Amino acid sequence: MSSPVVPAPGDAVVLDDVSRVFRRRAAPFRAPSETRALDHVSLTVPRRSRFGIVGESGSGKTTLVRLVAALDRPTDGTVTVDGTDITALPESGLRPLRRRLQLVFQDPMGSLDPRMRIGDIVAEPLHAQGASGVDGRVREVLAEVGLDDGVLRRYPHQFSGGQRQRISIARAIAPRPSILLADEAVSALDVSSRGQVLELLDRLAATEDFTLIFVSHDLSVIRRVCDRVAVLRQGQVVETGTTAQVYADPQHPYTRELLAAVPTLDRGLAAARRRHQP
Ligand SMILES: Nc1ncnc2c1ncn2[C@@H]1O[C@H](COP(=O)(O)OP(=O)(O)OP(=O)(O)O)[C@@H](O)[C@H]1O
Ligand SMILES: [Mg+2]
Repeated sequence: MSSPVVPAPGDAVVLDDVSRVFRRRAAPFRAPSETRALDHVSLTVPRRSRFGIVGESGSGKTTLVRLVAALDRPTDGTVTVDGTDITALPESGLRPLRRRLQLVFQDPMGSLDPRMRIGDIVAEPLHAQGASGVDGRVREVLAEVGLDDGVLRRYPHQFSGGQRQRISIARAIAPRPSILLADEAVSALDVSSRGQVLELLDRLAATEDFTLIFVSHDLSVIRRVCDRVAVLRQGQVVETGTTAQVYADPQHPYTRELLAAVPTLDRGLAAARRRHQP
């Protein structure tokens, strides 16, 4: 039994011995089943860090994101966000958290309302908060993600996947969140727009005042934006540390496996450089 993780003022998110079990009752021709999506997970995300969560499909990444965003509740353990234990908070108590926490998902087409104009999509979370100066802020964040005023009256289907993800990011940062959760935010993009969106997130994380929790099944993507990483396997954290440490000296065989599976551009470049050395 590990000792409890005590949240410190410098922590954005603390998970203390968190489990999430999905139970399915027996039905005709179906035995009851139980999935331990998260199994005694403890981790601490320091404020303003860029924290990567990596693991293969089904390892529990989205389950973890949903618990942090209070879209779901743990079966056991406690979740603390911005110093507040949210584990058992009623919906009314979660409202301030919902304002401070924004999400970006894998599929921007699914998360952007196709009938709404871009200007309204980006303004929506600001209106929801009763913010003033909405128009100015919408233009400002669109400029930050590299889109001009011409996009305001257009619709999501008029944009490429990469542009749509920029719009999702503009919408997410518009209310100045303290935590930005990105779940496989670049996985559906082609290589060049993926690079551009990663560059954008990297720049925003450096200039804006939020903690980034960045989920990906791909370690090479995590490496581009994150300073810390936790490796999830079958609902358990098998390794955590700075990205540099975990890359240079992976401790767990599963991390080594994930690294070996990465078709890294970095490694390709390193090999090319070695070949060209005199
Ligand atoms: N609502 C649910 N009901 C039942 N089982 C669930 C539910 N949500 C997740 N699971 C199960 O929990 C496990 C973890 O799922 P989760 O979606 O968190 O994985 P993931 O790491 O995000 O995977 P992916 O990379 O495919 O998105 C899986 O076995 C999944 O089938
Ligand atoms: Mg997922």
